[in-house]
Amino acid sequence: MADGTAVANPVWQDIQGIFSPFASQMMWRLDLNSYEDVKANAQIILLRIKSPGMIMPPPPFPPLTEGQIQTFANWVKAKCPQTASTGPVSVSAAAPAAAAPPPESPFRFP
Ligand code: HEM
Repeated sequence: MADGTAVANPVWQDIQGIFSPFASQMMWRLDLNSYEDVKANAQIILLRIKSPGMIMPPPPFPPLTEGQIQTFANWVKAKCPQTASTGPVSVSAAAPAAAAPPPESPFRFP
């Protein structure tokens, strides 16, 4: 968060806010503005934002704050939630439509 404290239940928007200033410089490897890319690389990102000696963002950038690192750690631990959903996402209550019958063949076989 702006005041440096970690977000307890972060969602993708919180994570994107932390990474987006650096996205263009990491595009050669992954898109820090892409939920899918960040989720797929979550473990290596977590390692690199908190490991001195191999720290991302690299010097002369200041490292992420403790609060930002903890926010990302909380997000990964919560399995990378995209939105603040409280339960399983309900896609549709309606039953799937029955498959349409195959069209009549234009060919006639004697
Ligand atoms: C919070 C922002 C950033 C994150 C989360 C991040 C993440 C990462 C990750 C996960 C890797 C390892 C990729 C791999 O081993 O396959 C990496 C490598 C690298 N990043 Fe970043 N990066 C950030 C910012 C930046 C910036 C601002 C620059 C350049 C100005 C940069 C330049 C590089 C370079 C040159 C490497 C390859 C060399 C190395 O592994 O140390 N990164 N970054």
